[in-house]
Amino acid sequence: MSKILVTGGTGYIGSHTVVELQQAGYTPIIVDNLVNSNAGVLGQLEKITGVKPEFHDFDLCDEAKVNRFAAEHADVTGIIHFAAYKAVGESVQQPLKYYHNNFFSLINLLNAYADKPVNFVFSSSCTVYGQPDQLPVTEAAPVKMAESPYGNTKQVSEEILSETAAAFSNYNIISLRYFNPVGAHESGLIGELPLGIPQNLVPFITQSAIGRRGPITVFGNDYNTPDGSAIRDYIHVVDLAKAHVAAIRLLEKGNPNGNYDVFNVGTGRGYSVLEVIKAFEESTGVKLSYQVGPRRAGDIEQVWGNVSKAEKELGWKAELGITEMMRSAWKWEQYLKDNPLRG
Ligand code: NAD
Ligand code: WQD
Repeated sequence: MSKILVTGGTGYIGSHTVVELQQAGYTPIIVDNLVNSNAGVLGQLEKITGVKPEFHDFDLCDEAKVNRFAAEHADVTGIIHFAAYKAVGESVQQPLKYYHNNFFSLINLLNAYADKPVNFVFSSSCTVYGQPDQLPVTEAAPVKMAESPYGNTKQVSEEILSETAAAFSNYNIISLRYFNPVGAHESGLIGELPLGIPQNLVPFITQSAIGRRGPITVFGNDYNTPDGSAIRDYIHVVDLAKAHVAAIRLLEKGNPNGNYDVFNVGTGRGYSVLEVIKAFEESTGVKLSYQVGPRRAGDIEQVWGNVSKAEKELGWKAELGITEMMRSAWKWEQYLKDNPLRG
């Protein structure tokens, strides 16, 4: 069974990907320093899959530890690199923290495996497109000047990966540009664990619905969209997790496009903030209270992805719709009530 190193594997997207890898017959090995996750996730993974994954708790910015891990795990055939800081607003306040963590962890990993044949999948983001000139946005659209240090780490990491693939033929690399991951595993046992007040829409909705937060503020209703609120391409985290398995499979088979490639991972359809609120109410039967506030600084107006490249070349397509996204997010929020998993 191929061993896949999953960095950030106790985090939100990583934990769901560990489940999908396990169920697809791979052996995931997690490295995570728990800076934004909880060791309790490992027991949850065991409940879902029947297997407690191998877990190593260390900081990927520690070069000596990464090198030791790579020497002891030379049989790893794939790496899925989720570990990073991801809070856009915090990255504006603390850019060096973001550049340090997101770059050093990536570079240490690439150096440590530079002499081994490795398939590498990187967590990128549709944030690299900024506000695209054409919608739906394709992978060929220009990368726009980053709106935040976080966004810049994704753009520059993609460049590092493309240059590394050009220089080291042992590396076969795919960057997946995620749109907006939401929802949780259908078991209700794993999901997103936002620290403090959620900055993202769906965790704020579920926390508001359960009474941990007050009314939702819709950030702007004067955008040039049908209902005035901003539009995003929300993707169920389980579909997103499956895209990583598809990427590893393509790399194992040999990617005809060469040893560096990029894919959009979304549903191909956009929902406005007001539509998401309505979808949550309709899917769960829970009424939300919301108010309209000013636009949030740095937000783009609308984005959704053209996902035909992933459909054709990865053989992957999102299967779960907005109803499943909202229902699973709500199931997870209810599970978390009085549950010690919340940090
Ligand atoms: P997350 O914070 O839940 O998971 C990241 C995990 O990495 C955490 O468990 C954290 O403890 C770990 N980590 C961070 N720095 C580390 C280090 N130096 N050493 C070891 N472990 C470390 O985030 P997520 O939402 O699962 O995101 C995963 C990846 O996907 C990130 O790279 C993120 O930038 C990217 N991404 C996320 C979104 C999103 O909206 N969630 C969208 C696009 C891209
Ligand atoms: C979605 C929409 C908000 C909260 C961010 C990062 C991006 C990517 C995903 C990592 C927007 C609106 C939100 C609220 C609201 N992450 N909103 N009230 O901003 O599209 O993307 O997460 O790569 O890089 O920027 O996601 O969930 O924060 O917002 O009205 O309380 O909901 O203005 O239009 P976003 P989000």
